[in-house]
Amino acid sequence: PLLAMEQEYGIRQELGSLHGIPLFKTFIEGWPQVKAFQARPDDLLISTYPKSGTTWLSEIMDMIYHDGDVEKCRRDAIYNRVPFLEMKVPKAPSGVEQLENTPSPRLVKTHLPVQLLPTSFWEKDCKIIYMARNPKDVVISYYYFHHMAKIHPDPGTKAEFLENFMAGKVAYGSWYDHVRGWWEKKQENLLYLFYEDMKKDPRREVQKILHFLGKELSEGTVDKILHHTSFQEMKKNPAANYETMLPTMMDHSVSPFLRKGISGDWKNHFTVAQNERFDQHYQEHMAGSDLHFQME
Ligand code: PPS
Repeated sequence: PLLAMEQEYGIRQELGSLHGIPLFKTFIEGWPQVKAFQARPDDLLISTYPKSGTTWLSEIMDMIYHDGDVEKCRRDAIYNRVPFLEMKVPKAPSGVEQLENTPSPRLVKTHLPVQLLPTSFWEKDCKIIYMARNPKDVVISYYYFHHMAKIHPDPGTKAEFLENFMAGKVAYGSWYDHVRGWWEKKQENLLYLFYEDMKKDPRREVQKILHFLGKELSEGTVDKILHHTSFQEMKKNPAANYETMLPTMMDHSVSPFLRKGISGDWKNHFTVAQNERFDQHYQEHMAGSDLHFQME
């Protein structure tokens, strides 16, 4: 009976492979619709490797799009305000279906590696904001997320999960390929941001985004955006904290979606040996790249 229920809701899914990228089987079933997705020229794509600040950036973008109107940004949950392009689970509208019913200008979330982005986004020359986060914090955040978000396979022990992450054997595959692939696509219409910069100086990063959008907002409005999108505010905001998601999908009592929201939490989790091994692996896999990360 447990298995039947798991299948019915698509929980604890084994990963399949989409063009070599490990991904949930239900997402792969929906791939033909994603591949054929028709972007609109005024779509803005928010692209990230999982656990890199997607929800934070999404809330900031929705606030910018609504000139800092907090009430408008409470109109619906973040996963409906910014639909998740490749999302497909049983008993719910797919990301593509949600997007088809979303009026322009749309904000679109994706975790797809750059080579799998539907070609229509490039053809329509859509603006894209990519946000990257250092891999040590990503892997810890992803580990806790596996426990609470039931679509994922069982993560095993922290040590096992760390190995799988380094080997790219987790949903969306190798973090290295993801951040490097999108970095190499950097151009006028692609703004590449870092979670660590956003933590250190959110005002400067919001100004970067405004400049990228060609939009001006008053100092007071920016203040409102920064306040509303702080970790503390988002954590208590039901429209931003995912607590409205079906409990069959996410169990916040295991670990809240807005868990810690800091840089450097990995230090509370990595052993000295794990850290040395990770640093070695990181150096090998980032060799020859001018992409650099702040680990805290
Ligand atoms: S997902 O499921 O991939 O879309 O998750 P994502 O939103 O990318 O990442 C979740 C992590 O981002 C943290 N977060 C924030 N940090 C700082 N400030 C704000 N406002 C904020 N909102 C979300 C969230 O807490 C997760 O990180 P960890 O390290 O697990 O706390």
